[in-house]
Amino acid sequence: MKKLVHGWPAGDFEKILIPAPALRRRVRALGRRISRDYQGQKLTVVCVLKGSLVFMADLLRAVHIPCDVDFMAVSSYTGTRSGAVRLALDLRANVAGQNVLLVEDIVDTGLTLSYLREILSARRVKSLKVCALLDKPSRHRAPVSVEYVGFRVPDRFVVGYGLDFHERYRNLPSIAVLKKSASK
Ligand code: PRP
Repeated sequence: MKKLVHGWPAGDFEKILIPAPALRRRVRALGRRISRDYQGQKLTVVCVLKGSLVFMADLLRAVHIPCDVDFMAVSSYTGTRSGAVRLALDLRANVAGQNVLLVEDIVDTGLTLSYLREILSARRVKSLKVCALLDKPSRHRAPVSVEYVGFRVPDRFVVGYGLDFHERYRNLPSIAVLKKSASK
């Protein structure tokens, strides 16, 4: 019988890069740092859909201060991760004067992040920081500053814990390197 990893063919993955327990530990540590840094202040946590949804759900439960939650989504014109980006879903809340923490699953070229930083800065937020689970510094094409980073990862195609390949693998509880031969 074909071996499965959380329902997906094990053969689709080259290896598990970050197992679920390591993700749990790191997310808890990020939550503790964020709680400490924003102690006594109001915080709006913004999830950048869709990739960040799993990370966001876990991170929120590790943040032990009162906070609001909101959502944004961007899409790239080219349909790739490296094209120009546009806003697909905007915040419901007015964030003027608020401390905003953007939550991203991965910073790849950094284009999404610089676009979002520009938009949010124009809204006169009180402060704007970014928490990214994964960062691929070797791929940055724009100057990026990420205040809270979970893991620095090499330039490999990673999926799981919210990250997809053609909408697949988001429900994998760990971060895996996808095999080049994995089917669409
Ligand atoms: C991914 C990820 C980031 C962006 C990073 O989103 O969630 O938002 O790409 O890439 P960049 O640094 O090169 O701009 P994707 O477009 O795959 O959409 P998704 O979150 O809905 O999966």
